Amino acid sequence: MLAQSLIGVKRDGGTLSEAQIQAFVHGLVDERWSEGQVAAMAMAILLKGMTRGECVALTQAMTHSGLVLDWSDAGLAGPVLDKHSTGGVGDKVSLVLAPIVAACGGVVPMVSGRGLGHTGGTLDKLQALPGYAVAPPREQLLRVLREAGCAIVGASADLAPADRRLYAIRDVTATVESVPLITASILSKKLAAGLQALVLDVKLGNGAFMHRLDDARTLARSLVEVAGASGLPCRALITDMDQVLGRTAGNALEVAESLDFLTGAVREPRLLALTLALSAQLLQLGGLAPTLAAGQALAEAALSSGRAAECFARMVAGLGGPADVLTDARLPAAPVQVDLVAPRDGVLASMDARALGLVVVELGGGRRRAGDTVDPRVGLSDIRPQGSLLRAGDPLLRVHAANAAEAQAACQSLLAAITLAEVAAPVGPVVIETLIETLV
Ligand code: URA
Repeated sequence: MLAQSLIGVKRDGGTLSEAQIQAFVHGLVDERWSEGQVAAMAMAILLKGMTRGECVALTQAMTHSGLVLDWSDAGLAGPVLDKHSTGGVGDKVSLVLAPIVAACGGVVPMVSGRGLGHTGGTLDKLQALPGYAVAPPREQLLRVLREAGCAIVGASADLAPADRRLYAIRDVTATVESVPLITASILSKKLAAGLQALVLDVKLGNGAFMHRLDDARTLARSLVEVAGASGLPCRALITDMDQVLGRTAGNALEVAESLDFLTGAVREPRLLALTLALSAQLLQLGGLAPTLAAGQALAEAALSSGRAAECFARMVAGLGGPADVLTDARLPAAPVQVDLVAPRDGVLASMDARALGLVVVELGGGRRRAGDTVDPRVGLSDIRPQGSLLRAGDPLLRVHAANAAEAQAACQSLLAAITLAEVAAPVGPVVIETLIETLV
């Protein structure tokens, strides 16, 4: 099958057969399709879309482009479960949800990614912990899963290799924002990870990739339906990303907030609500709780008893991080820390989450180009929630920077991202739409 013929079918709005989609994915992996041909196909898919059947076939072909993990003979104690977010600012739910679900009897081999655009990446956050290995050998991964119940790691090179090449080409050809391509990209990695149930956090708002409720719904439906058609029980929540989740954004700062959350020192209410909602869905879907209410109660008990914190500590120690992360995390701190203060009295009407995410990137906490190194120390902390009543001079947040000039530049950008109003506007709930039905 000639690449140019298949591209032509999609360009003209036709439907590709399963065999044609498999030919595309083979060409992607063995590089018989040139970068230009892959980019042209990605653009044709972005412009003309795909039927659900085509999207299922693409997801399946990408899943089987490499190793598909099978945990059946690994001696794991519970169902293999995972959560995936479409990306946000200050989103540290993965760091706290994985140990909560582990403490409730699930096994969570969470394959996570690096920061993308203005959004943070779970792997970058965990690498703020000295020694933490994101690519452990399989034996070590299995040992950690048996001992801690969770292991947050990166995708190995043999997991869905078709996605690695396609994603890199989409990233530089303005073809990321295609619902079937996002669906196949996310689900191929999750299906290859051999999960038994998946819960998805589809972010909506100025700090997310989806800005309109209709678009978030379309993506959530596509993900849930394609997962279901592939035999993976899956639910999705559409959740608010108009404000930073929790009080911090930046790698070491988010790990510190997650530790405070797990130990009970501080639990920011929206982060807590979202974590419990996602945990409850996953525990019910994985057969560990009969109802959502029971799942929520289990998750709360895992937190309040300290069992979730212990699972996190075992995971970190097992992957080479600090031996007792709960008492001595050895997180690096930025040399310059300055408070940004309210320029006048008012109510904090909004903080543009995307702009805050970009400031973290500018400070060095994310990448401007692939291959850049990330500064784990920098970011924002003590971020005041929307609706806060402020007097002139009250702190809005704290900037953590590598030097004074960068702190100053961050403060300038942040002031433009913050709106103070005369009266408070209502702040909506963090979970916007409860769930999309499971279609397995
Ligand atoms: N995350 C992914 O893994 N793939 C996409 O296409 C978008 C977000």
